[in-house]
Amino acid sequence: MNNNAQHVTLKGSGVADVDIPVVGFGTWPLTGPECTASVTRALGLGYRHVDTAENYGNEAAVGLAVRDSGLAREDVFVTTKFNKDSHGDAATVRLSAERALERMDLDYLDLFLIHWPNPAQDLYVQTCESLVDLVGTGLVRSWGVSNFKPAQLQRVLDAGMVPPVNQVQVDPEHAQRGVERFNAASGVVTAAYSPLARGSEVLKLAELVDPADRVGRTPAQVALRWHIQQGRIVVPRSANEERQRQNLDLFDFALTEDEMARIDALDTGEGPRLDSDEFGH
Ligand SMILES: NC(=O)c1ccc[n+]([C@@H]2O[C@H](COP(=O)([O-])OP(=O)(O)OC[C@H]3O[C@@H](n4cnc5c(N)ncnc54)[C@H](OP(=O)(O)O)[C@@H]3O)[C@@H](O)[C@H]2O)c1
Repeated sequence: MNNNAQHVTLKGSGVADVDIPVVGFGTWPLTGPECTASVTRALGLGYRHVDTAENYGNEAAVGLAVRDSGLAREDVFVTTKFNKDSHGDAATVRLSAERALERMDLDYLDLFLIHWPNPAQDLYVQTCESLVDLVGTGLVRSWGVSNFKPAQLQRVLDAGMVPPVNQVQVDPEHAQRGVERFNAASGVVTAAYSPLARGSEVLKLAELVDPADRVGRTPAQVALRWHIQQGRIVVPRSANEERQRQNLDLFDFALTEDEMARIDALDTGEGPRLDSDEFGH
Protein backbone atom coordinates (compact mmCIF):
# COMPACT_ATOMS: atom_id res chain seq x y z
CA MET A 1 0.00 0.00 0.00
CA ASN A 2 1.28 3.51 -0.72
CA ASN A 3 -1.03 5.51 1.42
CA ASN A 4 -0.58 9.25 1.11
CA ALA A 5 -3.81 10.44 2.71
CA GLN A 6 -3.47 13.10 5.37
CA HIS A 7 -6.74 12.06 7.03
CA VAL A 8 -8.27 8.74 7.98
CA THR A 9 -12.01 8.30 8.43
CA LEU A 10 -13.02 6.75 11.74
CA LYS A 11 -16.10 4.58 11.52
CA GLY A 12 -17.40 2.18 14.13
CA SER A 13 -20.20 1.72 16.59
CA GLY A 14 -22.25 4.83 17.24
CA VAL A 15 -19.96 7.03 15.15
CA ALA A 16 -20.95 8.96 12.06
CA ASP A 17 -17.78 9.14 9.95
CA VAL A 18 -15.18 11.37 11.62
CA ASP A 19 -12.02 12.50 9.82
CA ILE A 20 -8.84 12.39 11.89
CA PRO A 21 -5.51 13.86 10.74
CA VAL A 22 -3.05 10.94 10.49
CA VAL A 23 -0.27 12.89 12.19
CA GLY A 24 -1.08 13.93 15.74
CA PHE A 25 1.11 15.75 18.23
CA GLY A 26 1.97 13.55 21.24
CA THR A 27 2.11 15.43 24.54
CA TRP A 28 3.34 12.95 27.17
CA PRO A 29 5.39 13.77 29.32
CA LEU A 30 5.08 17.51 28.68
CA THR A 31 3.24 19.41 31.41
CA GLY A 32 2.38 22.95 32.45
CA PRO A 33 3.65 26.00 30.54
CA GLU A 34 6.22 23.87 28.64
CA CYS A 35 3.37 21.72 27.33
CA THR A 36 1.24 24.74 26.41
CA ALA A 37 4.21 26.29 24.60
CA SER A 38 4.96 23.08 22.70
CA VAL A 39 1.35 22.54 21.64
CA THR A 40 1.03 26.22 20.67
CA ARG A 41 4.11 25.92 18.48
CA ALA A 42 2.92 22.62 17.01
CA LEU A 43 -0.44 24.15 16.06
CA GLY A 44 1.44 27.09 14.55
CA LEU A 45 3.52 24.68 12.47
CA GLY A 46 0.38 23.06 11.11
CA TYR A 47 -0.47 20.16 13.43
CA ARG A 48 -4.24 19.79 13.63
CA HIS A 49 -4.46 16.78 15.98
CA VAL A 50 -3.28 16.71 19.61
CA ASP A 51 -3.03 13.59 21.80
CA THR A 52 -3.38 13.99 25.56
CA ALA A 53 -4.68 11.92 28.50
CA GLU A 54 -6.06 12.31 31.99
CA ASN A 55 -3.02 10.39 33.19
CA TYR A 56 -0.53 12.82 31.62
CA GLY A 57 -1.72 15.62 33.93
CA ASN A 58 -1.56 18.05 30.99
CA GLU A 59 -5.13 18.30 29.69
CA ALA A 60 -5.47 21.85 31.07
CA ALA A 61 -2.19 22.89 29.42
CA VAL A 62 -3.28 21.35 26.10
CA GLY A 63 -6.74 22.92 26.30
CA LEU A 64 -5.21 26.33 26.87
CA ALA A 65 -3.04 26.00 23.76
CA VAL A 66 -6.03 24.88 21.66
CA ARG A 67 -8.25 27.70 22.91
CA ASP A 68 -5.60 30.38 22.43
CA SER A 69 -4.41 29.09 19.05
CA GLY A 70 -6.63 31.37 17.02
CA LEU A 71 -7.85 28.27 15.16
CA ALA A 72 -11.53 27.42 14.96
CA ARG A 73 -12.31 24.63 17.41
CA GLU A 74 -13.51 22.39 14.56
CA ASP A 75 -10.11 22.71 12.88
CA VAL A 76 -8.24 20.98 15.73
CA PHE A 77 -8.76 17.29 16.52
CA VAL A 78 -8.44 16.67 20.27
CA THR A 79 -7.93 13.17 21.67
CA THR A 80 -7.87 12.35 25.36
CA LYS A 81 -7.95 9.11 27.35
CA PHE A 82 -9.41 8.22 30.72
CA ASN A 83 -8.30 6.08 33.64
CA LYS A 84 -9.66 2.89 35.15
CA ASP A 85 -11.61 4.57 37.95
CA SER A 86 -13.92 5.93 35.23
CA HIS A 87 -14.66 2.54 33.66
CA GLY A 88 -18.27 1.49 34.12
CA ASP A 89 -21.81 2.58 33.42
CA ALA A 90 -22.94 5.45 31.22
CA ALA A 91 -23.12 7.98 34.07
CA THR A 92 -19.57 7.17 35.21
CA VAL A 93 -18.09 7.53 31.74
CA ARG A 94 -20.10 10.68 31.02
CA LEU A 95 -18.77 12.26 34.23
CA SER A 96 -15.25 11.39 33.13
CA ALA A 97 -15.80 13.19 29.80
CA GLU A 98 -17.35 16.20 31.55
CA ARG A 99 -14.38 16.45 33.89
CA ALA A 100 -11.90 16.21 31.01
CA LEU A 101 -13.81 18.97 29.20
CA GLU A 102 -13.76 21.08 32.37
CA ARG A 103 -10.00 20.63 32.70
CA MET A 104 -9.51 21.54 29.06
CA ASP A 105 -12.21 24.22 29.05
CA LEU A 106 -13.56 22.84 25.76
CA ASP A 107 -17.12 22.01 24.70
CA TYR A 108 -16.49 18.61 23.14
CA LEU A 109 -13.79 16.00 22.55
CA ASP A 110 -13.03 14.60 19.10
CA LEU A 111 -11.86 11.22 20.39
CA PHE A 112 -12.19 9.70 23.86
CA LEU A 113 -10.20 6.54 24.54
CA ILE A 114 -10.14 3.89 27.25
CA HIS A 115 -6.44 4.29 28.13
CA TRP A 116 -5.87 0.70 29.32
CA PRO A 117 -8.30 -2.24 29.42
CA ASN A 118 -7.53 -3.14 33.06
CA PRO A 119 -8.96 -6.66 32.70
CA ALA A 120 -8.78 -7.27 36.45
CA GLN A 121 -11.69 -4.84 36.85
CA ASP A 122 -13.56 -6.55 34.02
CA LEU A 123 -15.43 -3.36 33.14
CA TYR A 124 -14.04 -2.53 29.73
CA VAL A 125 -16.88 -4.08 27.68
CA GLN A 126 -19.48 -2.13 29.67
CA THR A 127 -17.28 0.96 29.31
CA CYS A 128 -17.35 0.60 25.53
CA GLU A 129 -21.17 0.48 25.69
CA SER A 130 -21.08 3.67 27.75
CA LEU A 131 -18.83 5.32 25.17
CA VAL A 132 -21.21 4.44 22.34
CA ASP A 133 -23.99 6.12 24.35
CA LEU A 134 -21.78 9.12 25.01
CA VAL A 135 -21.24 9.79 21.29
CA GLY A 136 -24.98 10.46 21.01
CA THR A 137 -24.81 13.24 23.65
CA GLY A 138 -22.53 15.53 21.64
CA LEU A 139 -19.80 15.55 24.31
CA VAL A 140 -17.54 13.33 22.17
CA ARG A 141 -17.45 12.88 18.40
CA SER A 142 -15.83 9.45 18.43
CA TRP A 143 -14.45 6.89 20.85
CA GLY A 144 -11.97 4.09 20.98
CA VAL A 145 -9.58 1.99 22.98
CA SER A 146 -5.87 1.91 23.67
CA ASN A 147 -3.51 -0.91 24.53
CA PHE A 148 -6.16 -3.54 23.69
CA LYS A 149 -4.88 -6.98 22.69
CA PRO A 150 -6.85 -9.04 20.16
CA ALA A 151 -8.44 -11.16 22.91
CA GLN A 152 -9.62 -8.04 24.71
CA LEU A 153 -10.89 -6.49 21.49
CA GLN A 154 -12.66 -9.75 20.65
CA ARG A 155 -14.79 -9.43 23.79
CA VAL A 156 -15.89 -5.97 22.65
CA LEU A 157 -16.67 -7.31 19.16
CA ASP A 158 -18.60 -10.21 20.69
CA ALA A 159 -20.76 -7.66 22.50
CA GLY A 160 -21.65 -6.20 19.08
CA MET A 161 -19.40 -3.13 19.07
CA VAL A 162 -16.54 -2.02 16.82
CA PRO A 163 -14.21 0.54 18.41
CA PRO A 164 -13.24 3.06 15.71
CA VAL A 165 -9.58 3.11 16.84
CA ASN A 166 -7.07 1.14 18.93
CA GLN A 167 -4.01 3.17 19.94
CA VAL A 168 -1.08 0.82 20.58
CA GLN A 169 2.71 0.93 20.76
CA VAL A 170 4.19 0.37 17.27
CA ASP A 171 7.69 1.04 15.96
CA PRO A 172 9.86 -0.78 13.40
CA GLU A 173 11.24 -3.18 16.01
CA HIS A 174 7.85 -3.65 17.71
CA ALA A 175 5.50 -3.86 14.76
CA GLN A 176 2.78 -5.78 16.64
CA ARG A 177 1.67 -7.36 13.35
CA GLY A 178 -0.82 -9.66 15.07
CA VAL A 179 -2.52 -6.74 16.77
CA GLU A 180 -2.56 -4.65 13.62
CA ARG A 181 -3.94 -7.51 11.50
CA PHE A 182 -6.67 -8.14 14.05
CA ASN A 183 -7.54 -4.44 14.20
CA ALA A 184 -7.73 -4.23 10.40
CA ALA A 185 -9.81 -7.39 10.05
CA SER A 186 -12.23 -5.99 12.66
CA GLY A 187 -12.57 -2.55 11.01
CA VAL A 188 -10.54 -0.85 13.75
CA VAL A 189 -7.98 1.80 12.74
CA THR A 190 -4.54 1.38 14.33
CA ALA A 191 -2.92 4.45 15.86
CA ALA A 192 0.76 4.09 16.72
CA TYR A 193 2.08 5.57 19.92
CA SER A 194 5.83 5.85 20.58
CA PRO A 195 6.08 5.68 16.75
CA LEU A 196 9.74 6.76 16.88
CA ALA A 197 10.61 4.14 19.51
CA ARG A 198 11.19 7.11 21.81
CA GLY A 199 14.07 8.35 19.66
CA SER A 200 16.07 5.19 20.33
CA GLU A 201 18.97 3.58 18.47
CA VAL A 202 16.53 2.29 15.88
CA LEU A 203 16.78 5.68 14.19
CA LYS A 204 20.49 4.95 13.53
CA LEU A 205 19.91 1.71 11.64
CA ALA A 206 20.85 1.50 7.96
CA GLU A 207 17.30 0.38 7.15
CA LEU A 208 16.17 3.91 8.11
CA VAL A 209 19.32 5.90 7.36
CA ASP A 210 19.69 4.65 3.75
CA PRO A 211 16.22 5.72 2.58
CA ALA A 212 16.64 8.98 4.53
CA ASP A 213 19.81 9.70 2.55
CA ARG A 214 18.09 8.78 -0.72
CA VAL A 215 15.13 11.14 -0.21
CA GLY A 216 17.03 13.84 1.68
CA ARG A 217 15.03 13.40 4.88
CA THR A 218 15.83 12.22 8.41
CA PRO A 219 15.56 8.64 9.74
CA ALA A 220 12.69 9.79 11.97
CA GLN A 221 10.78 11.02 8.93
CA VAL A 222 11.43 7.67 7.26
CA ALA A 223 10.07 5.84 10.31
CA LEU A 224 6.94 8.01 10.34
CA ARG A 225 6.51 7.64 6.59
CA TRP A 226 6.74 3.83 7.03
CA HIS A 227 3.83 4.07 9.50
CA ILE A 228 1.57 6.23 7.39
CA GLN A 229 2.35 4.36 4.17
CA GLN A 230 0.86 1.33 5.97
CA GLY A 231 -2.25 3.25 6.99
CA ARG A 232 -1.50 3.94 10.65
CA ILE A 233 -2.23 7.16 12.53
CA VAL A 234 0.92 8.38 14.35
CA VAL A 235 1.32 10.62 17.40
CA PRO A 236 5.03 11.50 17.58
CA ARG A 237 6.17 13.79 20.35
CA SER A 238 8.93 16.36 20.21
CA ALA A 239 9.67 19.38 22.34
CA ASN A 240 12.01 20.71 19.65
CA GLU A 241 10.73 23.04 16.91
CA GLU A 242 12.83 21.60 14.08
CA ARG A 243 11.87 18.03 14.96
CA GLN A 244 8.21 19.00 15.35
CA ARG A 245 8.38 20.43 11.85
CA GLN A 246 10.08 17.31 10.44
CA ASN A 247 7.52 15.00 12.01
CA LEU A 248 4.70 16.69 10.13
CA ASP A 249 6.50 16.94 6.81
CA LEU A 250 5.82 13.45 5.49
CA PHE A 251 3.63 13.80 2.44
CA ASP A 252 5.89 14.76 -0.41
CA PHE A 253 8.16 11.73 -0.48
CA ALA A 254 7.57 7.99 -0.53
CA LEU A 255 9.44 4.83 0.41
CA THR A 256 9.86 2.12 -2.18
CA GLU A 257 8.50 -1.38 -1.67
CA ASP A 258 12.04 -2.59 -1.00
CA GLU A 259 12.64 0.10 1.59
CA MET A 260 9.34 -0.73 3.28
CA ALA A 261 10.21 -4.43 3.31
CA ARG A 262 13.64 -3.77 4.84
CA ILE A 263 12.04 -1.78 7.66
CA ASP A 264 9.36 -4.45 8.12
CA ALA A 265 12.16 -6.98 8.58
CA LEU A 266 13.40 -5.10 11.66
CA ASP A 267 10.44 -6.42 13.64
CA THR A 268 11.68 -8.44 16.60
CA GLY A 269 8.26 -9.92 17.25
CA GLU A 270 8.54 -8.65 20.82
CA GLY A 271 5.45 -7.23 22.47
CA PRO A 272 5.11 -3.69 23.79
CA ARG A 273 6.95 -2.33 26.85
CA LEU A 274 3.92 -2.93 29.05
CA ASP A 275 1.58 -5.92 29.09
CA SER A 276 -2.05 -4.79 29.22
CA ASP A 277 -3.11 -8.02 30.90
CA GLU A 278 -1.07 -6.87 33.88
CA PHE A 279 -0.49 -3.13 33.61
CA GLY A 280 -3.02 -0.35 33.54
CA HIS A 281 -4.19 2.84 35.19
N1 LIG B 1 -1.86 5.20 24.73
C1 LIG B 1 -0.80 5.04 25.49
O1 LIG B 1 -0.79 4.21 26.43
C2 LIG B 1 0.43 5.85 25.20
C3 LIG B 1 1.64 5.48 25.80
C4 LIG B 1 2.78 6.24 25.50
C5 LIG B 1 2.69 7.34 24.65
N2 LIG B 1 1.48 7.71 24.12
C6 LIG B 1 1.36 8.91 23.24
O2 LIG B 1 2.28 8.79 22.17
C7 LIG B 1 3.10 9.97 22.12
C8 LIG B 1 4.43 9.66 21.49
O3 LIG B 1 5.07 8.59 22.13
P1 LIG B 1 6.40 8.77 22.99
O4 LIG B 1 6.42 10.16 23.52
O5 LIG B 1 6.43 7.64 23.96
O6 LIG B 1 7.58 8.47 21.95
P2 LIG B 1 8.03 8.91 20.47
O7 LIG B 1 7.12 9.93 19.90
O8 LIG B 1 8.26 7.65 19.74
O9 LIG B 1 9.47 9.54 20.73
C9 LIG B 1 9.66 10.75 21.39
C10 LIG B 1 11.17 10.95 21.51
O10 LIG B 1 11.73 11.01 20.18
C11 LIG B 1 12.46 12.20 20.01
N3 LIG B 1 12.16 12.70 18.67
C12 LIG B 1 10.98 13.22 18.24
N4 LIG B 1 11.07 13.57 16.94
C13 LIG B 1 12.31 13.25 16.54
C14 LIG B 1 12.99 13.38 15.31
N5 LIG B 1 12.39 13.90 14.23
N6 LIG B 1 14.28 12.97 15.25
C15 LIG B 1 14.90 12.43 16.32
N7 LIG B 1 14.30 12.29 17.53
C16 LIG B 1 13.02 12.70 17.64
C17 LIG B 1 11.96 13.15 21.08
O11 LIG B 1 12.98 14.03 21.49
P3 LIG B 1 12.84 15.66 21.37
O12 LIG B 1 11.66 16.04 22.20
O13 LIG B 1 14.14 16.16 21.92
O14 LIG B 1 12.66 15.95 19.91
C18 LIG B 1 11.58 12.21 22.21
O15 LIG B 1 12.72 11.92 23.00
C19 LIG B 1 3.14 10.41 23.57
O16 LIG B 1 3.64 11.74 23.70
C20 LIG B 1 1.70 10.21 23.97
O17 LIG B 1 0.89 11.29 23.48
C21 LIG B 1 0.36 6.96 24.37
